[in-house]
Amino acid sequence: MKRNILVIGSGGREHALCKRLLESSKVNQVFCAKGNDGMKRDGIQIVDILEDNHEELINFSKEKKIDWVLVGPEVPLMNGLVDDFEAVGIKVFGPKKSAAMIEGSKEFAKELMTRFNIPTAKYESFSDFNLAYEYVENNSLPIVIKADGLAAGKGVVIAETYEEAKQALKEMLVENTFNNESPKVVIEEFLVGKEFSLLSFVSETGIYPMVAAKDHKAIFDNDKGPNTGGMGAYSPVYYVTKEIEETVLETIIKPTIAGMKNLGTPFIGILYTGLILTANGPKVIEYNARFGDPETQVLLERLDSDFVEVIESLLNNQEPVINWRETGVTLGVVVAAKGYPSSYETDVSLPNFKKEETTKIFYSGVKEKNQQLVSNGGRVFLVACSDVSKDVAHEKVYRWLNEQKLSPFYYRKDIGRTI
Ligand code: AMP
Ligand code: GLY
Repeated sequence: MKRNILVIGSGGREHALCKRLLESSKVNQVFCAKGNDGMKRDGIQIVDILEDNHEELINFSKEKKIDWVLVGPEVPLMNGLVDDFEAVGIKVFGPKKSAAMIEGSKEFAKELMTRFNIPTAKYESFSDFNLAYEYVENNSLPIVIKADGLAAGKGVVIAETYEEAKQALKEMLVENTFNNESPKVVIEEFLVGKEFSLLSFVSETGIYPMVAAKDHKAIFDNDKGPNTGGMGAYSPVYYVTKEIEETVLETIIKPTIAGMKNLGTPFIGILYTGLILTANGPKVIEYNARFGDPETQVLLERLDSDFVEVIESLLNNQEPVINWRETGVTLGVVVAAKGYPSSYETDVSLPNFKKEETTKIFYSGVKEKNQQLVSNGGRVFLVACSDVSKDVAHEKVYRWLNEQKLSPFYYRKDIGRTI
């Protein structure tokens, strides 16, 4: 029997997940709730149910005889969507609410790392503004201040001055800009080194790391300006050798998964480790409990195996067959609305892109209006190309971008170039 699969989420990551699932000969239909109108161009069935409406998602899955569900974003994971699907006997790949805490609480993640000796930046957590500021004053600059709880990639301030640190602490602890029930911050040592991400497929019985990816988080070229969800990515990453990947697996990923089991909150799903390659080896800067966006759009282009078979093997605790392309590089650039990550305009028409074999488009903040796609979010779409090297892939993506009429949209010009 061919499978019906439901993917939860609505961004470029989910577009990429759905697209790869649809390529499998084992699939009948791929649904995406709530999806976006751009996905329809690739034959994905979008479903008008919000990701927080667990009851409707369950009813829909029963009605459409969904074989299994894949959850993209962190918020439904934190809200226990996996727990709710499992409670009614629907198969779902992702961590339960208790395990999604690894992303949902920086304090939980830091305590886990301390307890199981996982390399990370030295830290302290605070809920009192005066104590927090006193700690900052006794430490050197720059210093990193992170709001506890989900903040859509925007809860991290790297303070270069004490005044900046004070302002960040005031916003997070006194004004509670991230609207947490009990506002807390984690203050940590600034790590120096190159950044990369390593994502792993995790089942009850096995850990299978992917290939390293590099995300570009800042809004402007040369990593200037505020952080975003990610403005572009490439994979593999030239400075992440097999040896480094092995070190991350042995000193970070395996102890993390073992630690989660030990705490009684076993992690199943995609473990995303954000890392900095310091002079003393790789150290964790963050965990996510899910696929990254935009890393997924480039990573899945590297996967040479049947994605449906991979997830089904993991769900059944069998050894999955996972092959990665051995040569070349995939690079993707995000096209965003002008003004993102602050306020931005929507409803701007997108040009009609020609379908091409070599250029892949993954839609995120778009909707249809009079049969035309218009922008409907901060990150609008990502364009990805694969080629023999990072530089050739870069040339190819930017040649394509230059050929389109994309004003007033914005994209970085240096993805894959700064590092
Ligand atoms: P996070 O949301 O924790 O990934 O942090 C966002 C960005 O801030 C990261 O991608 C890093 O570039 C930077 N960052 C976070 N923590 C540190 C740290 N301890 N040292 C240096 N940079 C950091
Ligand atoms: N690109 C970073 C993330 O998905 O959190």
